[in-house]
Amino acid sequence: MEAYLLAQNGGIEKLKKVTMPTPGIQTNEVLIKTKAIGINPIDIQVRNSKDILGMITHGNIPQQVVLGWDVAGVVEQTGEGVNDFKPGDEVYGLLNMPGLGNTYATYVTADARQLAHKPAALDFVAAGATPMAAMTAWQAVVTRGHVKHGEKVLIHAASGGVGHFAVQIAKYLGAYVIGTASAKNKNFVMELGADEFIDYTEKPFEKQLQKVDVVIDTINSVEHILRSISVLKKGGRLVYLQPHFQSAIEAQLLAAEVSGSGVFVNSSGEVLAEISKLIREGHVLPKVTQVFGFNELPQAQAAVESGRATGKVVVSVNDHTKEGFIKALTQEEINTIYDFYGVFSKRDYNEVDRILAPDWKDIPLAPGQVEGPTGFKELVRNFTTAFPDLIIKVHEVFGTHERAGVRAEMSFTHSSEFMGMAPTHKKLTVAIHEFHYLKDGKLTTTWHLEDWLSMLLQTGTWPVNGQQ
Ligand SMILES: NC(=O)c1ccc[n+]([C@@H]2O[C@H](COP(=O)([O-])OP(=O)(O)OC[C@H]3O[C@@H](n4cnc5c(N)ncnc54)[C@H](OP(=O)(O)O)[C@@H]3O)[C@@H](O)[C@H]2O)c1
Repeated sequence: MEAYLLAQNGGIEKLKKVTMPTPGIQTNEVLIKTKAIGINPIDIQVRNSKDILGMITHGNIPQQVVLGWDVAGVVEQTGEGVNDFKPGDEVYGLLNMPGLGNTYATYVTADARQLAHKPAALDFVAAGATPMAAMTAWQAVVTRGHVKHGEKVLIHAASGGVGHFAVQIAKYLGAYVIGTASAKNKNFVMELGADEFIDYTEKPFEKQLQKVDVVIDTINSVEHILRSISVLKKGGRLVYLQPHFQSAIEAQLLAAEVSGSGVFVNSSGEVLAEISKLIREGHVLPKVTQVFGFNELPQAQAAVESGRATGKVVVSVNDHTKEGFIKALTQEEINTIYDFYGVFSKRDYNEVDRILAPDWKDIPLAPGQVEGPTGFKELVRNFTTAFPDLIIKVHEVFGTHERAGVRAEMSFTHSSEFMGMAPTHKKLTVAIHEFHYLKDGKLTTTWHLEDWLSMLLQTGTWPVNGQQ
């Protein structure tokens, strides 16, 4: 399998893609073929800091560190003690938190009790985006925040991974939700269902609102949390995501007569199953705004590290277009195909040498047609002289890199005699199905799947409205 090893703590360049043996499974484990990996700030914090790596591994830092906690994929194998999952099941989960989740790999082992079945409403990328952020939001809003119907809840970084789930969960519970972020994220936050939006860059948030019942503070700053305490009603509840700040804020909590609760998310298939239920019922949905290929995983981390990500950032594994197993036709290749048919409509022969390779082959060749671009120019000239109002309409270009199929139609009303066929003054339409090979941006071969021209020449009649 392929995996990213953390060579040592530091920047994204310390993430090294390697090939290593696919791990075996224990009795209660499943082997997952990875489809998507959600990227979270903790991934970056652990990458950067040996202290945090030590904390998360309880001081037992393994020789080979593979980061990543969120995963979505397909069960490949199950241990003997696993009853809830079978090979082929689509699953997702937050793995081994606290500990190392090892999800930055194309195969991942997981304790089956930490997984849930992927809701059909989510594709793999959306599923990979969900576990850590949604489970943290659940703990913050439901387990610790005890948010109730009609309460006023302030959610900081409502545009972030945790915040955007917290807004949706609090709204589901019937709360009045105020979300903070910078102005560019206002629409995003309001569309999640928030009742009010505060642009924290305009002026301090505490100057922009009345007292609230609950604050969910996702910002990694004691100073920020102290400001959050100042906007709580007496008896209000603060939930914060950095439990180690507890001693630094305790005195202010007491003075303000509010409670404070620090959340640290733990792996739990049961909690994820609760969230899956909300997803299935349509109350909560992850919003993914950036998707990277497996080769681009370090760039995905950089996007989260910027602190400016909206919603979730996800790495899609085995994404053919990104991984290069099968590359899609490029936009340039598609344009070249359109230009090929455009020569018939525009009668611009200067374009031909740009579109066709010097040894372009037309299969089969029209009777008397010379090979290569010269022959094509001649063909177009003869055609457009015989059919002065000829139009070729391309309906569809499809295929993979350097191989394109085309569905098009050619229509005309008037023709002069052409290769022995009688002139016509009826509107006629001929279906075209062709295949092209391209190399270095030029067509190298064109196949006429239905050799309509030879057919016409043999039967001596034009097909009417596409019947060949
Ligand atoms: N304790 C736990 O179990 C746990 C679990 C998950 C996450 N966390 C922690 O929770 C924090 C948030 O995680 P996340 O995944 O939500 O992060 P994230 O997705 O990276 O957050 C990015 C968002 O935060 C907003 N933001 C940044 N500074 C802000 C400010 N001062 N006020 C309001 N919004 C601000 C940004 O909006 P703008 O670009 O508009 O500023 C951006 O949309 C991280 O520190 C993470 O480590 C803890």
